[in-house]
Amino acid sequence: MKRIAVLTSGGDAPGMNAAIRAVVRTGIQSGLEVFGVRLGYAGLIDGKFIPLGARDVGGIIQRGGTFLGSARCDEFKTEQGQQDALRSLNEKGIEALIVIGGNGSQTGTYALHMHNYPVVGIASTIDNDLVGSEITIGVDTAMNIAIEAIDRLKVTGSSHQRAFLVEVMGRKCGYIALMTAIAGGAEAYVIPEVKTDPENVAQVLQDAYERGKSHAIVVVAEGAEYNATKLEEYFNQHQERIGFALRSTILGHVQRGGTPTVGDRILASQLGAGAIECLKNKEFGVLVGLMNAHVKATPLAEVVGKIKALDEEMIKLAKAID
Ligand code: ADP
Ligand code: F6P
Repeated sequence: MKRIAVLTSGGDAPGMNAAIRAVVRTGIQSGLEVFGVRLGYAGLIDGKFIPLGARDVGGIIQRGGTFLGSARCDEFKTEQGQQDALRSLNEKGIEALIVIGGNGSQTGTYALHMHNYPVVGIASTIDNDLVGSEITIGVDTAMNIAIEAIDRLKVTGSSHQRAFLVEVMGRKCGYIALMTAIAGGAEAYVIPEVKTDPENVAQVLQDAYERGKSHAIVVVAEGAEYNATKLEEYFNQHQERIGFALRSTILGHVQRGGTPTVGDRILASQLGAGAIECLKNKEFGVLVGLMNAHVKATPLAEVVGKIKALDEEMIKLAKAID
């Protein structure tokens, strides 16, 4: 194998640049010629390849986002789109592809694998919902941004005796919400994995108010049945007995735009180098992730179509110390 390519796909995640850098540098050290693909699968279909040398990835380890650009591309979900992508790869003489991305993107990687094209995926999404990696690139930075926001909301909440609903990202997964609720000392959390009656949360807030607390924080996952908007509606109908005045903050994409933490830079470097090892060993159709604190390749067949379950111990911990 002489010539390979790397792309970033789906929602960007802080640390993607560090992963590209590791792929390029360890790839070149292994005697490979490395190309970057601009704008994910859309760029792959259009043949947007750029040669990447060691110097081209200098000064990017500390930058959030992805300098290659990312995209959501419905065309790639079709057989025609995948055939067009394969044609682009073959025309450029590229013999293997590394895909840095989340759940949807790795479904795309698997589709190429099913067409017998050599691929390796790298687990990267702020959602941390990928089976095959206990932690994914970007989630540590996203959680640090969320926790800074929660800490700040506590300050203003205390001045006004207010409760704050803080909605965090995660698509269908409550990982960011659960972990930031623990780390932020929240009074309650609402996640898709645990059925929640809004009245129970209202009771928690009322109790906190009656015990004289100056503020209260409820961390809400965007994918929960009762997201911040629905909870706010419910709480506003019961504000008098709850006591606290209520405000909502939806953090949204601010969580994706941060400078990658040390944890994300190191994880991305490990997984980028791990992907090149897989290519060298002809281990294709796998997702490179971190399992038991070590880099591990898991067959994509065991990864796609699933959402990683939350750690029950963490759910217990959050309940025990709220
Ligand atoms: P993420 O990778 O962050 O989870 P998405 O779910 O939006 O983001 O997926 C990113 C891209 O991966 C999609 O826009 C599409 O190009 C590709 N993709 C997603 N699902 C599939 C699928 N079932 N088959 C082929 N490609 C897919
Ligand atoms: O998958 C990452 C993510 O940030 C999710 O947490 C969120 O639901 C989604 O992407 C937002 O997508 P978009 O950037 O297309 O608005």
